Amino acid sequence: MVEVNTHVVMVSIGVVILITWAWKFLNDFWFKPKKLETFMRSQGFKGNPYRFLRGDFIEMIRMTQQAQSKPIKLDDYVVPSIAPFHYKMVQKYGKNCFFWYGPKLHLNITDPDMIKEIMHKHNIFQRPALSSLSKLTINGLVIKEGDEWMKHRKIINPAFGAEKLKNMIPLMYVSCLEVVKKWEELIQEEGFGEIDVWPDIEKLTADVISRTTFGSSYEEGKRIFQLQKEQFVLTHQSLWSNYIKGWRFLAPKMNKRLKEISRETDAIMRDLMLSREKRMENKEKCEDMLGILMESNLQEIQKNGDDVGSGLSSEDVMKECKLFYFAGQETTSNLISWTMIMLGLHLDWQERAREEITQVLGDNQPNLDALNHLKIVTCFVGFFIFAGLTSLLLLRIITCDYVGFCS
Ligand code: HEM
Repeated sequence: MVEVNTHVVMVSIGVVILITWAWKFLNDFWFKPKKLETFMRSQGFKGNPYRFLRGDFIEMIRMTQQAQSKPIKLDDYVVPSIAPFHYKMVQKYGKNCFFWYGPKLHLNITDPDMIKEIMHKHNIFQRPALSSLSKLTINGLVIKEGDEWMKHRKIINPAFGAEKLKNMIPLMYVSCLEVVKKWEELIQEEGFGEIDVWPDIEKLTADVISRTTFGSSYEEGKRIFQLQKEQFVLTHQSLWSNYIKGWRFLAPKMNKRLKEISRETDAIMRDLMLSREKRMENKEKCEDMLGILMESNLQEIQKNGDDVGSGLSSEDVMKECKLFYFAGQETTSNLISWTMIMLGLHLDWQERAREEITQVLGDNQPNLDALNHLKIVTCFVGFFIFAGLTSLLLLRIITCDYVGFCS
């Protein structure tokens, strides 16, 4: 009798768990998105009807793959190639539209006042939450919020001060010289030729970040870059994990590789930091980003009387250094490549830039003061940074996670 009762209780518990789970699943992936859709439509936003689980994701991937497989002409309008899905949505539904990353609703916001409000209310409009898988690649300052962001930012700030960056210019110059020398050798015979500059520019920016972040240990830094490159590709493929809980269990091979990469990168970073600590104990000056970051962290901890939590942990410092590659490498290589394309198209500006550089620098090595006198160069590089930033900001805004603040 007791055995039968136990059996009934077990089955009942199982059924309750199953029903609860099924209800939660249906609520998260059907009722909640549908409710949001109705709400958004009542607010005047338009978009595709929500489709179970996948939302607009498949269409997004298909359109992106299609656009990337086609070459573009240099004077083409580039937006349909860079963001084909978002471009089509704005064409179809107007600027106030929404779209579905899986079951999550994202809004396209173009009204400047609304954008301002979003930027000011960062406690409400927080950065989209990332899965543990994505956090293996994207971590540090860029995913922090509130007090934690302030703490990290305060400690990192000295690494980006003009005084410190000034000392890094000669390191950047060494990396640039290597590339220019290689290109000169390639066209040595005829004095002209066709060079695929992208791989070299990619290497150049990785080199600059390795040298400026890790100083003399930049070879180890370069290994981190190679690993992170693979990690970026895999993270991009695992984007689903940010939108559907449990997705990571469906791609075990990829997850395993991501974790392997993360372990190897962390091991290199740990060694670098240990050897840096020893050099700092011996009062050696370390003027690279890692050295500045560790020094600033130590000062913060000492200032607060070794309070637990006043500084960054070794793990945090590691994440911030990895972020320098993630945030600084592809952004700058794209900027340099695009600037070169534009200079190739607008030869008059190329000529003016050359004249200015010859006038300001002559045969001297660049330094901060001379760079500040490069008005024309600053003007168009600044313009392309602005263009890059604007598009990045737009992407950040249009992907603002509406679910987060609505629920
Ligand atoms: C053309 C080059 C670059 C562009 C267009 C660019 C763009 C951006 C944008 C739009 C953000 C804000 C991201 C967000 O809040 O979601 C950001 C943040 C950040 N970037 Fe860059 N970036 C560039 C170069 C670099 C470089 C070279 C580094 C460092 C080596 C770097 C380090 C960072 C860091 C640490 C953050 C987080 C800042 C914070 O949250 O306080 N970036 N960048």
